Amino acid sequence: MKKTIWLLLIGIVVLIQLIPTGRPESTDNNPNDLIVNNNLPDSVVSILQTSCYDCHSNQSVYPWYSYVAPVSWLVARDVRNGKEELNFSEWESLDKMKKAKLIDDIIEEVSDGGMPLQIYPLMHPEAKLTKSDRQMIVDWAESYGESLFE
Ligand code: HEC
Repeated sequence: MKKTIWLLLIGIVVLIQLIPTGRPESTDNNPNDLIVNNNLPDSVVSILQTSCYDCHSNQSVYPWYSYVAPVSWLVARDVRNGKEELNFSEWESLDKMKKAKLIDDIIEEVSDGGMPLQIYPLMHPEAKLTKSDRQMIVDWAESYGESLFE
């Protein structure tokens, strides 16, 4: 009896691996990328790449567990939804107003601790932002936002 239950469970775990995840493909060829096209301070580049780019760019790095259902479904959903709102890899294709709106959103999310999503630093401790990291992003975003309308 116990054995049957285990076999059933293992069967289910194997079967759910076959369900497509809709995980977005990654690519390093992003001519419209924010970092590629703008002279950002190194500290800001490093924070964005470490704490945001997995969900907000075409350069998501997928760790092994993100290939295993059901975690793969959660990761794929976060990346899909994240990129829909904000994709740094497509930054230069946005018009000025859209950029300004996103810059406002970034300032808001980063200063109130809404981003990165809370689940993310559990598996990526290096992505956790200190107070001074948050301040660096906000300072950069404010001056970038102003420069859009100069
Ligand atoms: C684990 C994935 C993940 C990481 C890492 C992440 N985000 Fe997000 N982000 C999302 C998702 C999913 C959404 C859309 C749904 C939501 O708002 O929760 C989003 C939405 C946003 C939005 C739009 C919010 C709005 O007001 O509509 C901004 C701006 C944003 N993220 C900025 C950032 C910045 C900046 C970082 C890095 C400091 C970051 N995110 C890191 C997943 C992520």
